[in-house]
Amino acid sequence: MPTLAVYPGSFDPLTNGHVDIILRGARLFDRIIVAILVNSEKAPLFSTEERVEIARAVFCDQANVEVDTFAGLLVDYVARRRAQVIVRGLRAVSDFEFEFQMALMNQRLDAAIETVFMMPAEQYTYISSRLIKEVFSLGGRVHGLVPDMVEERLREKVAGLGAKN
Ligand code: PNS
Repeated sequence: MPTLAVYPGSFDPLTNGHVDIILRGARLFDRIIVAILVNSEKAPLFSTEERVEIARAVFCDQANVEVDTFAGLLVDYVARRRAQVIVRGLRAVSDFEFEFQMALMNQRLDAAIETVFMMPAEQYTYISSRLIKEVFSLGGRVHGLVPDMVEERLREKVAGLGAKN
């Protein structure tokens, strides 16, 4: 049976750390679904539609990477898609506690689903969507840390905010 994995997250925005994990997952599993959580934050920087558009554009050449959205319990979505695996990235020990809690809770909710942790390449271990937003909004360079399309969209957002003020 083909192994289908779900890589869930907020992806606000997609970083090169996420891209690295998705490409690793695409090599390991028959298919990987990038599942973007709808309404993860009250005020995300990028709308769900923008996040889907960006991820689809970045992975347009990867036949076994799919981009979708989900709401509600992750395990329900995974079961509905008939996937067997949840993929999560682990960057540092500080990620572990929360990820461990989530993995065990998901295991309790649906014992048929396995969580697989993957490490990104070393150069991405300090990147997070939150830091990217903070650094960019304060005028810092994020080139090489996010896909080019994300960098462009961040620039447009900041220009748009400037025009409104
Ligand atoms: O990118 P993030 O914010 O680290 O992703 C967190 C995410 C989306 C994986 C997590 O919040 C989640 O699974 N939310 C869906 C609701 C759910 O199932 N919660 C219980 C998790 S144990």
